[in-house]
Amino acid sequence: MRLEGKTAIITGGANGIGLEAVKLFTKEGANVALVDFNEEAGRLREQELQLDQVTFFQADVSNRESVDAMVQSVVAEFGGIDILVNNAGITKDATLKKMSVEDFQKVIDVNLTGVFHSTQAALPFMLEKGKGKIINTSSVAGVGGNIGQSNYSAAKAGVIGLTKTWAKELGKKGINVNAVAPGYIETDMVNTIPDMLLMQIKMITSSPRLGKPSDIANAYLFLASDESDFINGHVLNVDGGMMK
Ligand code: NAI
Repeated sequence: MRLEGKTAIITGGANGIGLEAVKLFTKEGANVALVDFNEEAGRLREQELQLDQVTFFQADVSNRESVDAMVQSVVAEFGGIDILVNNAGITKDATLKKMSVEDFQKVIDVNLTGVFHSTQAALPFMLEKGKGKIINTSSVAGVGGNIGQSNYSAAKAGVIGLTKTWAKELGKKGINVNAVAPGYIETDMVNTIPDMLLMQIKMITSSPRLGKPSDIANAYLFLASDESDFINGHVLNVDGGMMK
């Protein structure tokens, strides 16, 4: 029970990596606020999981009012916040030549500004406790860039900047801020990638397979637990050795 008595907010918790993290964190004793934009999926997961420890909160991380309301509701239900996993993310891929300004901005709004909103809204409750764990989700695309992902790579590189800055600002206040940079993970997000490209991706990883949502959820868990108390401002690549 590595998270006994803790309350965690997991954004983008209704699918893929976030959902796996919701399951793992509850197994480790946490109360979990499953936060997602998608109300239908969120409600369905809450029903399927049938756990007293999990409550669904609908919120759009790119909308500050929505995030503030969600954080207030989480605190009203669970009494505080110990862990924030900024996992929600989207893609809208196109090469630089073809990417619309709207699609550039939308991905920045969700994947970068969304991390800022959720963290700023949750921060007072961690400061109150003098302890907290913030885990941001970057990507191999944020570390090394990726064809067709100007918006996504910029947002995910920005997430690394936020992580390092916040570690410096908040470390002395007992708050750890770290990031996970996943490789290609088997979720809906990679379903659109052609098989041929996925084959090539597997060939350039040291462990020649795609990642599983549990590979990332386990990294989130470590960074959320007391075991990582002396780790701050770190970007943990969980990518089968792709970014060496
Ligand atoms: P997914 O598409 O399976 O799940 C993402 C969840 O986020 C969905 O439930 C969706 O409804 C929710 N969401 C989207 N926009 C939202 C918003 N504005 N507010 C609240 N919730 C919102 O994605 P997956 O693969 O589980 O990705 C999770 C995180 O991991 C994302 O940040 C993604 O960028 C990152 N990542 C994923 C990789 C992969 O290969 N699957 C690789 C590298 C990073």
